[in-house]
Amino acid sequence: MSKILVTGGAGFIGSHTLVELQHAGHDVVVVDNLSNSSPVSLQRVAAITGREVELCKVDIRDREGLESVMSKHTFDACIHFAGLKAVGESVEKPWEYYDNNICGTLTLIDVLRRHNCKNIIFSSSATVYGDPIEIPITEKCPKGQCTNPYGWTKSMLEQILMDIQKADNGWNVVLLRYFNPIGAHPSGTMGESPNGIPNNLMPYVTQVAIGKRAELGVFGNDYDTPDGTGVRDYIHVVDLARGHVAALKAIDRKCGLAIYNLGTGHGYSVLDVVKAFEKVNGVAVPYSIKPRRAGDIATCYSDPAKAERELGWKAEYGIEEMCRDSWNWQKKNPEGYVE
Ligand code: NAD
Ligand code: UFG
Repeated sequence: MSKILVTGGAGFIGSHTLVELQHAGHDVVVVDNLSNSSPVSLQRVAAITGREVELCKVDIRDREGLESVMSKHTFDACIHFAGLKAVGESVEKPWEYYDNNICGTLTLIDVLRRHNCKNIIFSSSATVYGDPIEIPITEKCPKGQCTNPYGWTKSMLEQILMDIQKADNGWNVVLLRYFNPIGAHPSGTMGESPNGIPNNLMPYVTQVAIGKRAELGVFGNDYDTPDGTGVRDYIHVVDLARGHVAALKAIDRKCGLAIYNLGTGHGYSVLDVVKAFEKVNGVAVPYSIKPRRAGDIATCYSDPAKAERELGWKAEYGIEEMCRDSWNWQKKNPEGYVE
């Protein structure tokens, strides 16, 4: 058992990870400024696990705020989710993205090392591969050109963390490159609660299915893929959450630097997802074909073998469970988390 600082723990992936950490016997403390989340998510975590979660409402750019959290607790590791993540918004507001994600992480790392907590698991993304030169993508695939400032923050933060680990081998840094997390907790009490118009496919699909939006726009059907629509590696958020518990094993064995893809290894097209959702849930998802979205690539799916080999972690849920749980959450919480 260890005590883990979870930045961004009130968010979509963070909150699901808290459940799995507590189930595995770890103690957790959350630092989150609630800029893209609700504290209700933490009440839902406690309702599932039977253990309260301490929330410190602190911005990771706030050095004094972080110092005060770190002086009250002794952490074995930090799982660092906090960050802004909307691709389109990052193109409009690059300064805000670099400030929040880069300055925030630099401040966090400095405070962590001052308190001698040199174990960190970082939320990276398949976006660092750019348009990948190999499919399925292994961790050896070179990083590519990102198409937006959000992606660059992930790529740069990976480099910063690698350099810091290289200079001081007291650090253990685990970079987790997530593919496309969807789904929700099977209880239907926790899920993704996006503000405004969803950017991502699955929240858009569930909002069309529930009648909030008229139809899904499918961004392009002329890609070089089996049905012409974009192919991605969707991963159930509970599997992804468990990947973080498994990643603590790398820290236990003093990995130095370790990089893992967290995906299922299966690629599904936009229309595969729509069809699976309709079939599993018995609801219609009207759609129409729209132009390609700027910055999108045709195909992106992982080779997740390294995580299985080294961490004993493997995604267990399939696309049907992802569609079932996303819909269950949307039906039970049509407005997301309501405070
Ligand atoms: P999310 O927005 O639901 O969660 C992020 C959390 O961080 C939110 O609770 C937000 O309030 C908090 N936060 C943001 N800036 C902060 C700051 N300066 N100080 C303190 N808290 C701050 O997003 P998520 O989907 O749960 O993503 C978690 C992490 O995983 C992010 O770093 C994201 O970039 C990364 N990631 C997400 C995806 C995805 O598709 N969801 C894919 C790859 C990587
Ligand atoms: N799509 C649509 N219509 C929509 C939304 C999406 O057709 O309304 C399509 C996209 O064109 C793409 C696929 O659905 O082909 C998936 O799109 P998402 O926006 O759900 O996900 P992305 O693959 O574009 O990006 C996501 C996160 C990134 C992260 C990346 C990692 O948004 O932050 O996964 O693979 F980096």
